[in-house]
Amino acid sequence: MKIKQIVVFIGTLGVATSLFAAADANKIFDAKCAMCHIKSMPTNRANMVAPAIMGVMRHIKMAYPNKEDAINFMVDYVQNPKKEKAICMPQKIARFGLMPSQKGNITLEELKKVSGWLFDNFPPKNFKGHGKYFNHNKKPLVNSSLHK
Ligand code: HEC
Repeated sequence: MKIKQIVVFIGTLGVATSLFAAADANKIFDAKCAMCHIKSMPTNRANMVAPAIMGVMRHIKMAYPNKEDAINFMVDYVQNPKKEKAICMPQKIARFGLMPSQKGNITLEELKKVSGWLFDNFPPKNFKGHGKYFNHNKKPLVNSSLHK
């Protein structure tokens, strides 16, 4: 191999490794979360059993702008969902019920990987959500009836 080829090869390996990690998290999400949280913009809301993940992530980031805090929150919530700590709009919980704990369905390592990947990829840049951050421990920051 010529030097140039080697450099290209090593560069490709690096890109491939990070792509694999993302592909991995995407696969875990598809297998363990996507049956409830769709990844696309909802077109038929009647079929939904949980909020779409882009909306969920928008609210997570409002409450936890720091990636590490967001991951910690998600890792905890997915295993031990509680209304008091939910950042979801209250109407979501009223409509869908509390998320069932996924403890036992997903390993801690998978959950951390998925949470980091969700933070990096959702909501997509062109996503315009509605409704402001709501925390059940605090007062809503804005009239939550804006949120449908
Ligand atoms: C059986 C359906 C179901 C599965 C599977 C599921 N969720 Fe959920 N999830 C829900 C529902 C319903 C809500 C909205 C109510 C709530 O917040 O508890 C929710 C809410 C959430 C929230 C927002 C929590 C909050 O603060 O309100 C996050 C984050 C989340 N899910 C992540 C995940 C991840 C990651 C997975 C895969 C490991 C997953 N969910 C799998 C049903 C599900």
